[in-house]
Amino acid sequence: MADDLRDRDREAAFWALIPAAGIGRRMGSDRPKQYLTLGSRTILAHTLSIFLEHPRIRGVVLVLGPDVDPDALDLPSAGGRLFRVAGGAERADSVQNGLDFLSERAHGEDWVLVHDAARPCLPVSDVDHLLRALGDDAVGGLLACPSTDTIKWSDGAGHVERTLERDRVWRALTPQMFRLDVLREANRKARAAGHAVTDEASAIEYLGKKPRLIEGSAMNIKITRSEDLDLARLYLMQQGRLEGGFRP
Ligand code: C5P
Repeated sequence: MADDLRDRDREAAFWALIPAAGIGRRMGSDRPKQYLTLGSRTILAHTLSIFLEHPRIRGVVLVLGPDVDPDALDLPSAGGRLFRVAGGAERADSVQNGLDFLSERAHGEDWVLVHDAARPCLPVSDVDHLLRALGDDAVGGLLACPSTDTIKWSDGAGHVERTLERDRVWRALTPQMFRLDVLREANRKARAAGHAVTDEASAIEYLGKKPRLIEGSAMNIKITRSEDLDLARLYLMQQGRLEGGFRP
């Protein structure tokens, strides 16, 4: 009885899930982009540190590709809070593996922050903002940026079909934060139905729910092409997170 009460009154914990099993073809480098270095550390190590050093994150699930030797990675020290899981063919498959792993260790009501390994410039203040803004929310949500460009919807054959209303267009960033059980079910159902799940919010939307948009910093870029690396170095330096300074 006392245990039941404790369990019901228990505060939901926050977990991070980092999909890092992509090959990053658009980068054109000799290795997956998350293993390229910014300063003296890999992109992956920069990203992991944000969550491993955050006092409110209970643990971090890192999803890695099949050919990776985790012992050869320059991973930050984690005091038993870092768990490694094997990835899948698509990002959503990698996320599903991480959620399945977490469901054996965490509570279904706990929050999961899914964050791309390729976004090392996420400011810690944005993580704090997300936790504060969504901690009591019924659904959860995501960091996003209002679009400064006008966005065109193509006809699929190189012509403009229509122009989207700019005031309502946002770019989805990560972390995206949802309850473990709800996200796990949403991701599983949306994938099984063949729905394109390119981020967690799209799986939640598939269940008919409306994730909240939380405005985040435009510094939180996803490193995709080689020209993004210099920009990422600059943003890390501005945040005081790049040892040895910045050489363009
Ligand atoms: O390819 P994209 O840049 O959209 O990948 C976003 C994130 O998802 C990256 O951190 C990448 O490593 C990860 N990913 C994954 N498993 C895949 C494909 C991508 O974990 N099969």
